[in-house]
Amino acid sequence: MRKSGLLVHKILHTLGDMVQEGMSTWELELAAVKMMEDAGAKPAFKNYYVPAAGERYRFVLCTSINEEIVHGMPNAKKFLKSGDIVSIDTGVSLNGYFGDSALTVPVGAVSDKVKKLLQVTEQSLELAIDKVREGNRLFDICGTVEKHVVDNGFSIVREYVGHGIGTQLHEEPQVPNYVDRRNENPRLREGMVLAIEPMVNAGKPDAKVLKDKWTAVAKDGSYSAHFEHCVAVTANGPWVLTRP
Ligand code: MF3
Ligand code: CO
Repeated sequence: MRKSGLLVHKILHTLGDMVQEGMSTWELELAAVKMMEDAGAKPAFKNYYVPAAGERYRFVLCTSINEEIVHGMPNAKKFLKSGDIVSIDTGVSLNGYFGDSALTVPVGAVSDKVKKLLQVTEQSLELAIDKVREGNRLFDICGTVEKHVVDNGFSIVREYVGHGIGTQLHEEPQVPNYVDRRNENPRLREGMVLAIEPMVNAGKPDAKVLKDKWTAVAKDGSYSAHFEHCVAVTANGPWVLTRP
């Protein structure tokens, strides 16, 4: 999992550095396909069946622009412009072990409010990572993201959640970015790996899916940010597998 995590990191940061005004999200897709091929890795998202969509996903990346929360699809006719934000989310498997990570980058100049949205979302992930310790419980992670986001005036998307990860992309437990007392609250044990992925709207939390069956957007059209890392519980504390 460390190997796939580091490959995902390399791909995401290469793509993040490529982002500029005027380019299409399809260019990002093509670059990601090439890097996966060169590394002998299998894309984790392409052909992945998602019951809610009722079909298989067709790309190696999700590229979600502005009010798009997750599952935006790379598109040769969609061009990035100054003031946009774009979330890039990808996963791979190497020898059957998965890695999954996402980041959101600004295009050209964005407003102070949008800068704060990106900062707060990434900080909420960092604060949650620090809770990935033996003896803590799942709700410590969920509650940490929720509190930081709400305290800063933004809102948590509830329809999409993080997940366990290992020999499959999505394993138990679900990792919501909020505490829901109806869910189980397992203790964290050495060897568990969680994909923590706050999805945060600048406006109201409500989401809807577009007619394309995939793209989840903020209902009120407000900007939405997304960051994700895979984090292992070790005897020495959290180990973020998806960064060096
Ligand atoms: N990054 C998302 C996740 O962590 C996307 C996977 S869904 C797919 O669950 F269809 F794109 F594969
Ligand atoms: Co994920």
